[in-house]
Amino acid sequence: MTEYKKKSENIIWHEGKVNKDDRRNLNKHTSAVLWFTGLSGSGKSTLAVEVERELSKRNIHTYILDGDNIRHGLNADLGFTPEDRLENIRRIGEVTKLFVDAGIITLAAFISPYQKERHQVRGLLDKHEFIEVYVKCSLEEVENRDPKGLYRMARCGKIKNFTGIDAPYESPKNPELIVETDQLSIQDSVKQVIGFLEQNGYIT
Ligand code: PPS
Repeated sequence: MTEYKKKSENIIWHEGKVNKDDRRNLNKHTSAVLWFTGLSGSGKSTLAVEVERELSKRNIHTYILDGDNIRHGLNADLGFTPEDRLENIRRIGEVTKLFVDAGIITLAAFISPYQKERHQVRGLLDKHEFIEVYVKCSLEEVENRDPKGLYRMARCGKIKNFTGIDAPYESPKNPELIVETDQLSIQDSVKQVIGFLEQNGYIT
């Protein structure tokens, strides 16, 4: 995680009487995070929204944490320097841990461009709770899509530190799942994610 100075002292963890397993039992399903990582415009949010809809139909408790949305509130004070991106993901990692503890299948859609930060979020969770989904799409295709016109602005220097243009994206080395959104329809991409969850016992 980002190196930061812990400022709080004399704080003691307070244990509750209802734990993660109790909450999972009440919900009648397990909890975990589907961590969607990929370039801007690769389809992370679209995929998260459609997968959530499918899970919800199956009475599964879900919540989406999405980059653009979280940057409107919790992380409104952060920009896109490497330090700010690391802090963005550090905070989201902690929020994700709380949601998983709450017994919810969480869908996190963040570019999360650095291996290190994704690895650190994985480390916050128990084994099998972090499902890294690489939303893979070529730079050529995301630039073609350019749904928000951001690549055009980055190419002409109006936006600095834009992922894939003048800021790095480190592809996952060993993700649980790779969804190639420049090869698959959205329906097939959703099927791939749901199929993974079924085959690995997260949902029935
Ligand atoms: S990160 O890298 O994980 O901290 O980014 P994230 O919080 O997911 O936010 C990505 C969205 O911010 C918009 N945006 C930018 N993206 C990348 N680089 C730069 N410089 C930038 N400036 C604004 C953009 O809409 C991203 O949304 P998605 O959904 O990924 O397209």
